[in-house]
Amino acid sequence: MDNKVHISPSILSADFGRLNEDIASIEAFSDSLHVDVMDRHFVPNLTFGAPVVRCIKTSLPLECHLMVEHPENYVDDFKKAGAHMFIFHVETTKDPLGLIAQVKAAGMKAGVSLNPETPVSMVEGLIQDVDSVLVMSVHPGFGGQSFIPDALEKIRRLRSLSGDLEIAVDGGINAETGRQCVEAGANVLIAGSYVFGATDRKIAINSLRS
Ligand code: DX5
Ligand code: ZN
Repeated sequence: MDNKVHISPSILSADFGRLNEDIASIEAFSDSLHVDVMDRHFVPNLTFGAPVVRCIKTSLPLECHLMVEHPENYVDDFKKAGAHMFIFHVETTKDPLGLIAQVKAAGMKAGVSLNPETPVSMVEGLIQDVDSVLVMSVHPGFGGQSFIPDALEKIRRLRSLSGDLEIAVDGGINAETGRQCVEAGANVLIAGSYVFGATDRKIAINSLRS
């Protein structure tokens, strides 16, 4: 990726009843769309699956964040639904390299995510193979939570391991925490409530770039 900071609004905080209108309101200022898929097993919340993703109308790349058990079962469905990147949790598979290969063979980029309590060492061996590492800066499951500062040290550690790795951070991102994450080495900021809850979404998104 280029060396600017990419902004990926999370539709978890959009109005699902007017999803495509909400997406249209941020499309021109955003770099990708973050799509949170939850199964009420890996996380204590349930959102939606591939049939809803298929209904999303956007020119932005769809980055699907699978907070589900057995993510390998969903690869083909999400490819068919239009996903560009398939992000799974390292805690959910015993064979992350096999899953990365499966995702790439399906024609998607592969991302790996780690929970706040999961050490960076769990993903170190995957850095050469994935397109993105997503550091969770809240406990996954809900929007609108407070940023957990320990994420900054994880981002620094990942950046020290690779100068050109895509490092995304997800949870509690606003202008202040976003700036801290970029200083630590993140280059993708995922933000839900800060963007969709803003009076002016364009201003909110641009505040994450400065
Ligand atoms: C949380 C999700 C996040 C969520 C972030 O489990 O993975 O993508 O939408 O929401 P905010 O930005 O409100 O913390
Ligand atoms: Zn997410």
